[in-house]
Amino acid sequence: MMTSSEIRQKFLDYFKSKQHLIVDSAPIVVKNDPTLMFTNAGMNQFKDYFLGNKEPIATRIADTQKCLRVSGKHNDLEDVGHDTYHHTMFEMLGNWSFGDYFKIEAIEWAFELLTKEYKLPIDRLYATVFEGDAKENLEFDQEAWDIWKKLLPEKQILKGNKKDNFWEMGDSGPCGPCSEIHFDMRPEAEVKAQIGSELVNNDHPQVIEIWNNVFIQYNRKADGSLEPLPAKHVDTGMGFERLVRVIQGKTSNYDTDVFMPMINFIEAHSGKKYGVDEKVDVAMRVLVDHIRAVSFAIGDGQLPSNNKAGYVIRRILRRAVRYSYSTLEIKEPFFYKLVTLLADQFKGVFNELYLQKDFVSRVVQEEEKSFLRTLESGLQLLEQACFEAESLGKTKKIDSKTVFELYDTFGFPLDLTALHVKEGGYEINFNEVEKLMQEQKERSRAAANVETGDWISINDDEPVFYGYDTLNTTAQIVKYRKVKEKNKEFYQIVLDNTPFYAESGGQVGDQGYIETANERIFVLDTKKENDLLYILTDKLPADTDLVFNCVVNGAKRKLTTSHHSATHLLQAALREVLGNHVQQKGSLVNENLLRFDFAHFAKVTDEEMAKVETIVNAKIQEGIKLGEERNLPIAEAIKRGATALFGEKYGDKVRMITFDPNFSVELCGGTHVQNTSEIGLFKIVSESSVAAGVRRIEAVTSAKALEFLNDKAETLDKASELLKTPKDILKSIQELLEERNALAKALEEYEAEKLNTLREQLFDKVQEKNGLHFLAETVNVPNADSLKTLAFQLRTKYPENLFCVLGSIINEKPQLAVMLSDNLVSTKGLNATNIVRELAKEIEGGGGGQPFFATAGGKKMDGISKAVLGAEKFA
Ligand code: SER
Repeated sequence: MMTSSEIRQKFLDYFKSKQHLIVDSAPIVVKNDPTLMFTNAGMNQFKDYFLGNKEPIATRIADTQKCLRVSGKHNDLEDVGHDTYHHTMFEMLGNWSFGDYFKIEAIEWAFELLTKEYKLPIDRLYATVFEGDAKENLEFDQEAWDIWKKLLPEKQILKGNKKDNFWEMGDSGPCGPCSEIHFDMRPEAEVKAQIGSELVNNDHPQVIEIWNNVFIQYNRKADGSLEPLPAKHVDTGMGFERLVRVIQGKTSNYDTDVFMPMINFIEAHSGKKYGVDEKVDVAMRVLVDHIRAVSFAIGDGQLPSNNKAGYVIRRILRRAVRYSYSTLEIKEPFFYKLVTLLADQFKGVFNELYLQKDFVSRVVQEEEKSFLRTLESGLQLLEQACFEAESLGKTKKIDSKTVFELYDTFGFPLDLTALHVKEGGYEINFNEVEKLMQEQKERSRAAANVETGDWISINDDEPVFYGYDTLNTTAQIVKYRKVKEKNKEFYQIVLDNTPFYAESGGQVGDQGYIETANERIFVLDTKKENDLLYILTDKLPADTDLVFNCVVNGAKRKLTTSHHSATHLLQAALREVLGNHVQQKGSLVNENLLRFDFAHFAKVTDEEMAKVETIVNAKIQEGIKLGEERNLPIAEAIKRGATALFGEKYGDKVRMITFDPNFSVELCGGTHVQNTSEIGLFKIVSESSVAAGVRRIEAVTSAKALEFLNDKAETLDKASELLKTPKDILKSIQELLEERNALAKALEEYEAEKLNTLREQLFDKVQEKNGLHFLAETVNVPNADSLKTLAFQLRTKYPENLFCVLGSIINEKPQLAVMLSDNLVSTKGLNATNIVRELAKEIEGGGGGQPFFATAGGKKMDGISKAVLGAEKFA
């Protein structure tokens, strides 16, 4: 039997023999495309090639791509685990033609690879062809049909509608008709009883799609219309895990060598068997699937967090942990243990995971630990809701808001909550909860509401970035489009010769202006979408055909550049001081500061920080010249020791930034000082933790460092002025603190003394009334604790029949305390909470407590004596 590794390799070798360039998978986390969070298809990294924004590096390419389908147009999350052939993360094997071959080769090669190389039986294959769509004015794909007719009997070729046979990446972008290949895996007897063609695209678990051949011919525009592309392309995608299953003759993707080692590991740990109980099977499938999504995303730089892509990863992780906690009954962190297994499996294929396995498993473990705590408090919240439903509402219906909160904040899926409460006979109002979920969805949709118009082309020039060498160019507009965000209109403008640096690699985008003789338009920001650089303005030039003078805000750029170069020095220094495990996990560089996140498992000590600071400042003083190579083959850069970032997409040619070949060599697209001496000064401002295993250092350089130090010096000057001791300020502070402590102690003693006197006075004031020891007094005490202490002392003195109300003004707020002896509560049915609430009306306040002792605070100071007098009524 062919192993999964052999199957993958055969695919790549086959297309290599057809002159395809084999490239690496792009990172699974998408950085420069606002239309996508995660890579959801092999073609994503080639989007610019299809749209003609960029020249392809080869006209034939093939690869295996890490994909994640958990958000947006393609979302399979809810199916995962319940069926045997959907995944969150999967590998997509793909071959591409960019204006090179088209339908004939694509289909014939697909057929040859499947039947000759992988030796799949022809009579089990089905092909689908686009039937056309009148509304979109799209014709039946006769060409594909005719090609298939030469390869397959006609009964194995089917027509499909737009939903199945017209592929689109998202709401807009490149698209076209497609031809899918399905495989029928049913046993012989079943095949005889019902022809497979009836089951294609019908959710049959044994008749599944394995390969999609898309013929990219159109661009879907923002207004919904289709625009023919200048060239025709091929984009194919084959689900690797499905292919392996089909070739290995398994009835489920999970039974293949891609997943089985992890399932066996879970069996051993949980003591439960796979394949006996469907519920347990679902849970195990969820775990072995989800660990892939979570690990690869973290490996490519996406840490779990509370928003956007990070939140998606956090929820996938929690979904897995819930299954492991409730169904597999594993109550301690366990999910993270799968990381090592997975990383070893992908060694040499997706090496980034293998190289970071300790880091990734640490992050997963910490996330798991904290979710297990949440899970327990979530379950407690649920218990409370059950209790309240019965004791307050006298029903078995759980408050829908609590169920929603559990879903939204604690990550409990509805079915888990339902299952949990069902055991106690409680019910959930599903309609109401659904409604709350829907409202939430609409709220977040409204919050993220960005409308993007279509590009308006002015000319076809290639946009070129000149900002490494100059802050000023003359340029024309290549194209522009309108975007609407939160009801404000902006313009994205692409310039042919641009000096503006687009936000990337942690460095913020440039600001500045573009101008003609008649108008000046401010550049609010510069960004890029995939590789297309654009400036952002809130106004469109009156005449877009003119030549513009483009000017970068130089002061902002200069400080930003200084912070960026200092970040390189910092990273190198951290590696020297802490070790080579220091991997960049995030960075931000702007005109105010630099922020550098990196993998490291302990707090950086003050001593280590001082060392790092000293090294960086020494490198600044050395005056090291910038080494900048713009078009270096990536292999050579790596050979020369360049630090590359996991999760970053590098081309064949890279830019390498060197400050002393023996100190700092990095792949980087940012702007840098010509000489380290320009940085002037480097000062660390803070060190903290951002996530498990990730530390953050913030630092300032140049004028900002001077500002920071001057501020500190000024504070010191002011302090010494206040202390009137210009010399030994620390000693003065020490003395002040000692004096303060002594005074506080004396004050405490004095208060205690005063309270004792007060207590004796109160004892004397207790009256005998209706068989009660009655006291209602306004007293003068320093804090609420003293009021409480007095009340309890009275209770000790009068263990029976005490009815006491004390009032006081504390920090300009009226406060009340009611104390009752236990016998009044148990035999007379009195309740201090009810009494204090009633009396608190006089001070416009509220409170509560226990039946024998309760307190209240209020707003109305002059109501206090009335409130205290009110006690008579109760007595
Ligand atoms: N883009 C197509 C898909 O994702 C083929 O690669 O199915």
